[in-house]
Amino acid sequence: MAVIALKCPAYKITAVDVNESRVAAWQTDALPIYEPGLLDVIRKVRGKNLFFSTDISGAIREAEIIFVSVNTPTKTFGDGAGKAADLQYWERVAREILHNSRAPKIVVEKSTLPVRTSQAMEIILNAPGKDVHFEVVSNPEFLAEGTAVRDLLEPDRVLIGTRETAEGLRARREIVDIYAHWVPPERILTSNIWSAELSKLAANAFLAQRISSINSVAALCERTGASIPEVARAVGMDSRIGSRFLTASVGFGGSCFKKDILNLVYISESYGLHEVARYWEAVVMMNDYRERQFVQTMMHEMFNTVVGKRIALLGFAFKANTSDTRESPAIYIARMLADERAQVVVTDPEALENARKDLAQHGVKTEFADDPYTAARGAHAIALLTEWEQFKSLDWERIHRSMEKPAFVFDGRNILDHERLFKIGFNVFPLGSAPLKHY
Ligand code: UGA
Repeated sequence: MAVIALKCPAYKITAVDVNESRVAAWQTDALPIYEPGLLDVIRKVRGKNLFFSTDISGAIREAEIIFVSVNTPTKTFGDGAGKAADLQYWERVAREILHNSRAPKIVVEKSTLPVRTSQAMEIILNAPGKDVHFEVVSNPEFLAEGTAVRDLLEPDRVLIGTRETAEGLRARREIVDIYAHWVPPERILTSNIWSAELSKLAANAFLAQRISSINSVAALCERTGASIPEVARAVGMDSRIGSRFLTASVGFGGSCFKKDILNLVYISESYGLHEVARYWEAVVMMNDYRERQFVQTMMHEMFNTVVGKRIALLGFAFKANTSDTRESPAIYIARMLADERAQVVVTDPEALENARKDLAQHGVKTEFADDPYTAARGAHAIALLTEWEQFKSLDWERIHRSMEKPAFVFDGRNILDHERLFKIGFNVFPLGSAPLKHY
């Protein structure tokens, strides 16, 4: 909404939320999330054509177009628990829109939803008894955290799915007009509404599948003497394959990939397409497997016990340049190490507050350190879990001096200079290539 406000000065945008403290934070310079470039955009438009409010019913009454961006987490209860999307917030919003509207509106799905959800929205909104028409449009979001502003300013594509009725096509034009302020016409795709809903799930499933594919090959590299950066480079230079999203990692995290694939699995099952469900489920299984294997390697290399050993986790966010820790592999790894009775200490430049909440929620006891040098002091091992740039340029000699010996580095993101660390004296375990050991 901030980017739309910036690019479309004639539109007045009000962002509403039930959470008062978050709405208050959006009105300050201490935004509730860390996202590079976002504050600059917000400063330019806040109070001009971008407003934040908790007056949900007032904003609904006033608006001609409503973007619904409530969360749709994986269901934790009842039928489909652990896979299906929990649509309670979504449905509540539909009813709230219905209740507060006196004039026709376009309702845009921004949340990622199972295919055919907009039909439910339409049925609720256009139930008999009210002569106001609502047109539901699907406009899935493809931006990634950490690069959200850039991704929106220069999107690969914007997708707008509508009904192909006269009213649907009118709504389509309204939404196309918004993006046409800055997105070239050939990048604005229109489609039927179900295609738009399914494209979002499918795009995330394909991206996650690439990571699981490269991570599965990384496991094979570790046994065969092949090296994953070399393999990824050779594979990615095939123009049919492409080089992006082929970086081996300790696993993908984030609020989207796992949730969306499980959603796809659930939908496939509900249509009786069991083979389709198994196919996509394997992407998630490979991810879980690599997270588990990362800790198993640590255990195995550290003489099969980590009891009482201090282990520093460098990075907790699910990727660099975000404070978001949802589904971060670090949560799982911290928990597994704590179960093995290691003394875990966590450091992260932006995500410590969220790390604290996550670990408390999972009942995991760890230490926290603002400073990576403090985290590493007296540690037996360092596990690098988020690819923050600043970790590359730490004073690794100083870190080595302050650690217990033998000192281990497990590079879960393959970003460090492994040869150099080895020369300093570390035993180094890259992902997907041979370890560099002094013993
Ligand atoms: C993802 C998609 O990339 C967006 O297109 C989509 O809009 C978004 O989900 C969403 O559904 O809202 P996001 O989860 O923010 O975006 O971040 P990604 O950059 O996709 O990274 C996801 C995870 O994959 C991270 O843990 C990252 O470290 C990992 N990753 C990514 C790898 O392990 N290797 C890679 O080569 C790339």
